[in-house]
Parts: sequence; C-alpha cells; structure tokens
Amino acid sequence: MKIPFMRLDRQFEQHKAAILALCEQVFSHGIVLQGSEVATLEDQLCSIMGTRHAVAVGSATDALFFALVSTGVKPGHKVAVPAMTFVASASPVIRAGAEPVFIDVGDDFQPDISKMIELVTAGAVQAVVAVHLYGQLFDIKPLAEACNAHNVILIEDAAQALGATLNGSAPGEHSAAATLSFDPMKIAGAFGSGGALVTNNADIADRTKRLRYHGRDENRVYQELGYNSQLASVQAAIVGFKLDHLDEWSERRNDIAHRYTAVLDEISSVTPPRELPGSHHVFHKYVLTAGSNRNRLKEHLSNAGIGTMVHYASSLHTEPMFKKYLDPSDKFREADRISKVALSLPIYPEMEDSEVDYICHQLTNFDW
Ligand SMILES: Cc1ncc(COP(=O)(O)O)c(C=O)c1O
Repeated sequence: MKIPFMRLDRQFEQHKAAILALCEQVFSHGIVLQGSEVATLEDQLCSIMGTRHAVAVGSATDALFFALVSTGVKPGHKVAVPAMTFVASASPVIRAGAEPVFIDVGDDFQPDISKMIELVTAGAVQAVVAVHLYGQLFDIKPLAEACNAHNVILIEDAAQALGATLNGSAPGEHSAAATLSFDPMKIAGAFGSGGALVTNNADIADRTKRLRYHGRDENRVYQELGYNSQLASVQAAIVGFKLDHLDEWSERRNDIAHRYTAVLDEISSVTPPRELPGSHHVFHKYVLTAGSNRNRLKEHLSNAGIGTMVHYASSLHTEPMFKKYLDPSDKFREADRISKVALSLPIYPEMEDSEVDYICHQLTNFDW
C-alpha cells in the first residue's frame, strides 16, 4: 500500500464539483482580486475565531509581518520567538527590522513559557510571537498577563491552529493579533498561498488593510509604503468552502489521531502527542516522539510505503540566517532533542479507514 504524507489530489477529486463551481463563479463575475468572496471569508474567520476583525492577505508570512508593524514593533526591538517552529515565525521579525530572541521548547512542543515570561518581566523584549504548533493551543493566558503588565506586544502565530480552542478561547482573544495560514498543506488550504490576520483592534485591522495594498486608505490615498499582498477571490472562495467543512474534517482528523494513539499507548518506547485538558486539538499534524528509534521507524514506515515527515528536523537556532542573532552561550537542549526524536504520521480527512488500519499495523509490527 502507498500512503503519501499528503493527498491534495484526493481532496480535489472528492470535492471537484464544488471547487470548480467556485472557480466558475469568480471567473464569471471577473472581480478576481478583492471580490465579495474575500469579504465573505473575512466574516467567516471573525465568527470562527471570535474576533471583531479579519484581514485576508497573501500569506501567513505577510500576515505576521503586518501584525508586527501594525502593533508597533519597530526597528531595533527585540522579539521573543520559539526556536522550534517554521522559519516564517521568525523571518518577519527581521523583515520588520527587529531582532529575534530565540526560546527553547517547553512541554508538549510548546515554547518555554516561563522563559518567555522571564524575558517579558525583565524588559528584555518589546514583543513576543507565540506559536501554536501542530493544531493545539497552549495556555497563553499567563504570558498575556505578563505582556499586559509590562506593556509588551503579544502576537499569536496560529498558522497551524485554525479551528483549535483551549477552554473555549481561540487565538486573537488574549493577544493584539493572531495570524493564520491557508498554505496548501494547512487545514483549510488554498490552491496556492494565502493567510489572514485576526484582531479585536480596529486600528491594527485598518493598518493591515493599508499595508496589504500599497499603503492605500479607504479614500484611495497612499498614506505609507505598502505591499501587494492580496488573497485572490478564487482562493478566498475555496478556503471559505473548506471552512464550511472545518468541524467535520477536524472530527475525522481527531478520529485518525485517536486510533494512532490507542496503538502507541500500548508501546512503552514511544510517546504519542498529548491533548491538554480543555483543548480542542485540530491535528494539523500528528507528531509522536520515538526516542532513539525515530530514524529506524521512519525507514520502516517508508519501506512499507508510508510517507512521514519530521517537524522540525532542524531548529531555527541552527539555521545560518539567524546565526547573528544568537549569543554563543544560548542553549536549545529540548529543541535539539525533539528534532532527533519527533516523527509526523500522515493525517488528513481523506484517508481511508483501511489506510489508517495499515499504518496502525505497521506501527505495531515495528521492532521496538
Ligand atoms: C508556524 C507557521 N508560521 C508561519 C507559516 C507561514 O505560512 P505561509 O506559508 O502561509 O506564509 C507557517 C506555514 O507553513 C507555519 O507553519
């Protein structure tokens, strides 16, 4: 059996009629940029995220850059960012002229929150980018309280956590802004790049709207240097269609995750991902840790036709582009450890039961 890590082709096959009808709708009215589909998607995001404003842009990378600029991060500021995340959690900090301060991993793939709070309290950073990895939120409240108390900007990178909640709260509630990704690999992926910023602050939303289109305001006056970062109407329509299925598809992802976990719970040398109390996990990724067996397990699954990935094989502090922001005494022991032991299994709603059974079987018959 061949089970690729992702099957966007199968997703298209299953929803072809609906997706093509949306393409026809947009191409027929012809307003391919900033069409009504974009405004509809923004309304939909407000209701999913529980925020007053949503602004769709060209990617989550741009959304994070706009979030930093519009919340007041300035050149020379220091911004705490987790070391274990995708590069685009940190690169917009540099684009904004600020400096990333990398933070090691704490529990459950979360950033080390106590370290972040320590930096905030000591006045060592002017902003924090908190990243929710793999489809689960960590408890942002203590960090948000520290940021509020010390006048530090808090932004949530929720690129991987669309639809996730913790104790009923979603990204954007406790921070200045949260950013979302519609990258094709994400839970509600476009057929191309896309992203959004959500916030309860009208000034941040307005500034982001200006930045996404050449600094132009609602009176068509060019107020400041801006960019061209629009989400195409057709992509907005397709993402909107996927968001209509968000609950159903997250339920299927949860089903698959729980089947993997039931098998892995019986094996002492592997740790399945933990679901935090009060968490609605959307399982963007299913990341287990397999200790010294990781590479052998990856190879075993590959020989059985199963695609896996490592999130993340290298932590950001090892990347040349960030070298100049590191202090030689900085240590990232947990990030280094996780990069050697983590393994992501295929998880997408279009997986068939027989494929999930096959993966469970291959996990069981591995020589642990
Ligand atoms: C944690 C995280 N932040 C930011 C991004 C950037 O998203 P995009 O590809 O939409 O720019 C990604 C996407 O891969 C991500 O996983």
